[in-house]
Amino acid sequence: MRVLVTGGAGYIGSHTLLELMAQGHEVCVLDNYTNATPEVLTRVRALSNGAVTDYVGDVRDPAKLDEVMQNFQPEAVIHFAGLKAVGESTQKPLYYYDVNVGGTLALLHAMDRAGCKRLIFSSSATVYGDPVYLPYDEAHPTTPTSVYGRTKLIAEQMLQDWAAAQPGASAVLLRYFNPVGAHSSGRIGEDPKDIPNNLMPFIAQVAVGKRAALSVFGDDYDTPDGTGKRDYIHVVDLARAHVAALNYAQTNTGARPFNIGTGDSYSVRDMVAAFERASGVTIPTQLAPRRAGDIAAMQADATRAKAELGWDAKHSLDEMTASTWAWQSANPDGYDS
Ligand code: NAD
Ligand code: UD1
Repeated sequence: MRVLVTGGAGYIGSHTLLELMAQGHEVCVLDNYTNATPEVLTRVRALSNGAVTDYVGDVRDPAKLDEVMQNFQPEAVIHFAGLKAVGESTQKPLYYYDVNVGGTLALLHAMDRAGCKRLIFSSSATVYGDPVYLPYDEAHPTTPTSVYGRTKLIAEQMLQDWAAAQPGASAVLLRYFNPVGAHSSGRIGEDPKDIPNNLMPFIAQVAVGKRAALSVFGDDYDTPDGTGKRDYIHVVDLARAHVAALNYAQTNTGARPFNIGTGDSYSVRDMVAAFERASGVTIPTQLAPRRAGDIAAMQADATRAKAELGWDAKHSLDEMTASTWAWQSANPDGYDS
């Protein structure tokens, strides 16, 4: 299929491009590089030995979207382009609504004008909010606790309404758990621009000496070792889920959410120990207060994705940490290395 990938130069998008091309799909990227660098696509091209058409532009720009749609004629769109920092979303709510909701709306309008009816959407487990029960299944109530989470939920609802009103339309809503890890080549990976908000990139930067110590945000949670537990998923497994979702969208209409996680969960202390095993480097830690908005634990029930998409996670925790280490040690300053 011809697949337009918005935000394709980002962390998850770049890994997904490689999986799409490996399966024979033709890809085109639209990215405005607010959180990426063109070097990403240079490396993706080198790794795949394939063609990646790309456009520099904003997903909120109707003229740019029309240009891309007319030139590339996509049969499906994977929509990664968006903003993802929970803390920043509280400080700049209108910016987050503009990009994450407004960007999705502008894209749907352009797809309608071009007659494109298949969309795979990057949603998040954060749409569930405080757990009423765990593991979360897709029927769990959705009451997000941050602006970021609300932008994802509103976009999902918009896609539900769009798919219901458009005969033949298909919207696959992928609710990612915690993506970590990197491509096996060590050539592409996660490259946070500022101080990392998330655990794994922070640990990786401590390991290469860019940060002195990891702050452990609370050790008095109701978990076996008191630190927060999450369902970490290897980014290559997550990328594979998009290929599975594309296949699903070819034969199914309507909108459907899917949890994309492993069903396992690990604590902060587990992650530090696994990273030390993979890297041979000791990670200094210091205890810090709980981070506002954090929950004790979360975990996916991913049985729907297995049953309906034919997808499940294949990579172990050690593969997540080893690939992160391979990427970070070879590229201590990310794509600026
Ligand atoms: P990322 O920031 O690495 O990638 C997003 C890409 O979109 C970047 O290349 C950025 O330059 C581009 N972009 C941003 N705004 C744009 C705009 N207005 N127009 C065009 N391009 C724009 O993030 P990621 O981790 O790859 O996440 C991809 C998607 O998955 C996001 O929508 C994010 O909210 C969602 N998601 C991510 C996580 C995670 O932990 N990484 C978890 C759940 C959901
Ligand atoms: C965070 C976001 C969530 C988003 C997800 C993307 C918040 C409150 N939540 O989730 O909305 O979908 O990222 O992956 O920001 N930790 C430390 N020290 C650190 C960083 C993290 O101890 O320096 C702990 C956290 O308290 C948590 C665990 O590590 O227990 C994982 O944190 P993180 O990687 O930020 O992911 P989430 O909190 O799950």
